[in-house]
Amino acid sequence: MERVKKNQFIFVSYFLVINSIISCVLGFNVPSIFIFGDSIFDAGNNHYNKNCTAQADFPPYGSNFFHHPTGRFTNGRTVADFISQFIGIPLQSPFLEAQLELINGSRKKYPSNGINFASAGSGVLSTTNQDLGVTPIQDQIQQFKTLVQQNHITKKQIQQSLFFFESGSNDIFSYFYPFDAPTLAPNAYVQAMLDQVTSFVDEICKLGARRIALFSLGPVGCVPARTLLPGAPIDKCYGKMNKMVKNYNMGLESLVKIIPTKYYPGSFAVFGDVYKIVQIFEANPKHYGFSDVTNACCGDGTLGGLLQCGKEGYKICANPNEYLFWDYFHPSEHTYNLISKALWNGIHTKIRPINLKTLANMTLT
Ligand SMILES: *[C@@H]1O[C@H](CO)[C@@H](O)[C@H](O)[C@H]1NC(C)=O
Ligand SMILES: *[C@@H]1O[C@H](CO)[C@@H](O)[C@H](O)[C@H]1NC(C)=O
Ligand SMILES: *[C@@H]1O[C@H](CO)[C@@H](O)[C@H](O)[C@H]1NC(C)=O
Repeated sequence: MERVKKNQFIFVSYFLVINSIISCVLGFNVPSIFIFGDSIFDAGNNHYNKNCTAQADFPPYGSNFFHHPTGRFTNGRTVADFISQFIGIPLQSPFLEAQLELINGSRKKYPSNGINFASAGSGVLSTTNQDLGVTPIQDQIQQFKTLVQQNHITKKQIQQSLFFFESGSNDIFSYFYPFDAPTLAPNAYVQAMLDQVTSFVDEICKLGARRIALFSLGPVGCVPARTLLPGAPIDKCYGKMNKMVKNYNMGLESLVKIIPTKYYPGSFAVFGDVYKIVQIFEANPKHYGFSDVTNACCGDGTLGGLLQCGKEGYKICANPNEYLFWDYFHPSEHTYNLISKALWNGIHTKIRPINLKTLANMTLT
């Protein structure tokens, strides 16, 4: 008996040693992530842009993880943050913060774990929410390009990095604003958006990006903020809006398929189906720990969607992480955590042709 136990113990520790050697040697082959998009990813860029009125740099944003506002539009971490943690690298700083630190001397060089360029309220069309002073995707790529041209980021680092893109919700949401009547029909508008995404992909590929993840939009027509729009239903999602979202998502997926052939032979691109992932949560809320998948935890008015969280007169729920929506537009940290897990090691209905874990573990030659 004693003998068996001893052998088991030896076997177990041998296994542990081998295991840690393997993970040490293999690890994940990704030093950094470069992030582009809107409030889903913004980690504080807008906070450092004093001209910008789209902000979440006040309480109770950040309260459930960072315990202070960071400029993130949720109660904790975003998808980019969770994926960084899965890979085992620090969370990316907002570009404008890193730039400021370089200028004031508190930082010697740009961070080696990547940079976050995302700006809340921005879109793929440069006109979207221009009046709020947001940084559209074209300016984000220009900021990145400038750093590359000034040799702050090496070609080697770019080749080894992941590139995350998520944008388009604000363009589609703005399409339904009553005060600026759209001049394009829905399909033409979506096509104009996709043309901009194509230019973006073309640009980052030219700059050397090899591992690119384009994330679909979620069901934007279901956000509590739809109550701000005169034509939107309250008792169900806004079907017209979701139809545009689905068309845009289809275009993104087609783009993902041609990136490795057309834009950069030898590159890898994945399509994260966030729309589908969120639908799975909505179909079975309890299973995923949600008590509410309709209302904002933090805000006020119908669906909690009439007032931004943190603004005068806001109300907040007791358990934010039981809500799919943290505020009028944005998921809670719990939702982001579940989405991140699905993107990280999910099957092909959630992310395809490969998941982020596989993408991160590739050795490119
Ligand atoms: C990376 O891939 C190799 C084989 O391709 C596998 O053995 C290893 O477990 C993977 N590493 C991680 C961290 O997933
Ligand atoms: C803010 O606005 C001023 C004046 O329009 C402009 O010169 C400046 O570049 C803007 N700053 C940022 C960070 O966009
Ligand atoms: C430099 O800027 C950063 C970011 O705003 C700030 O946290 C830090 O205190 C500043 N350092 C100095 C020396 O001014």
